[in-house]
Amino acid sequence: MKLLVTGGAGYIGSVVSAQLVEAGHEVVVLDDLSTGHEDAVAEGARLVSGTLRERAPEVLAEGGFDAVLHFAAKSLVGESVEKPGLYWDKNLGESLALLEAMRVAGVEKIVFSSTAATYGEPESTPILETDPTRPTNPYGASKLAIDTSLAEYARLHGIGGVSLRYFNVAGAAGPQGERHAVETHLIPNVLKVALGERESVSVFGEDYPTPDGTCLRDYIHVVDLGVAHLLALDACEPGSHQIFNLGSGHGYSVREVIEVCRQVTGHPIPVVTGPRRAGDPAVLVASSEKIKSQLGWKPERDLRAMVGDAWTFVQGR
Ligand code: UFG
Repeated sequence: MKLLVTGGAGYIGSVVSAQLVEAGHEVVVLDDLSTGHEDAVAEGARLVSGTLRERAPEVLAEGGFDAVLHFAAKSLVGESVEKPGLYWDKNLGESLALLEAMRVAGVEKIVFSSTAATYGEPESTPILETDPTRPTNPYGASKLAIDTSLAEYARLHGIGGVSLRYFNVAGAAGPQGERHAVETHLIPNVLKVALGERESVSVFGEDYPTPDGTCLRDYIHVVDLGVAHLLALDACEPGSHQIFNLGSGHGYSVREVIEVCRQVTGHPIPVVTGPRRAGDPAVLVASSEKIKSQLGWKPERDLRAMVGDAWTFVQGR
């Protein structure tokens, strides 16, 4: 297939692009390089640099595209609370421009990077796709609005859309991994301590109603996540919008993650306990039964593999 990958110079987009090229697809990456890196673009993929508004219409007008995989987004929860307008504009606004460009060019399939943040504070765990969506920050709200737009474009314009709601993505795929200028995520921050770039890692709160008092999260390896995208691409059906959670169904506490990082790196990783971070739910764990039963997906790589692959990646840089 000929595929447009938006955000293909970013962490997840670059890993999935490489998997798509490997599977024999023709890949065109569209990325404004605001947070992505030109040298992360998968070998064999063609890079078009620019925003979706600026470049998606002309790129899709080139013709022959079978589907779009839409990763391009602003994705920092904290930043979204400080600059909500930026998140509505870059996430929802640019996505609407992309959907319009697809409609005009007659491209009917899209796989979209949605997020666990669309659910907000869960009522029960594991979280099901049918659970209420009550995002607690503009990041999650803007992603939920894109899910809703996809449902409307499916109903009214006949596109086939799949939204994949990622939980906590981690790990690396050889030379492709997480390289954020501002790093807020737990595993990369812990590995900075093992690399000697930081003295300690902060644990944001130890008074949560969980077994060791720290938050539980559902970590998924970026390579397993990529496999789900290839399955989702095949599952796009004209006129329908489908939503699938993507996690492992298992929650690890912040303390457990740090312990696995100690075992993998052999570094003692000093910890400083700080206050809770605003907006962090105590437990976020996915039910991934739907994607397992309907698309035959299953996660193959555990937390140790995620930390091990991320560790190899950061040491190589
Ligand atoms: N944490 C620390 N110290 C750190 C970094 C994180 O204790 O230095 C804790 C957080 O408080 C949280 C857990 O580690 O309890 C995981 O935090 P991350 O920042 O790695 O990930 P989040 O669960 O906050 O965010 C993820 C995705 C978001 C998505 C969100 C869904 O990265 O894109 O899940 O709510 F929005």
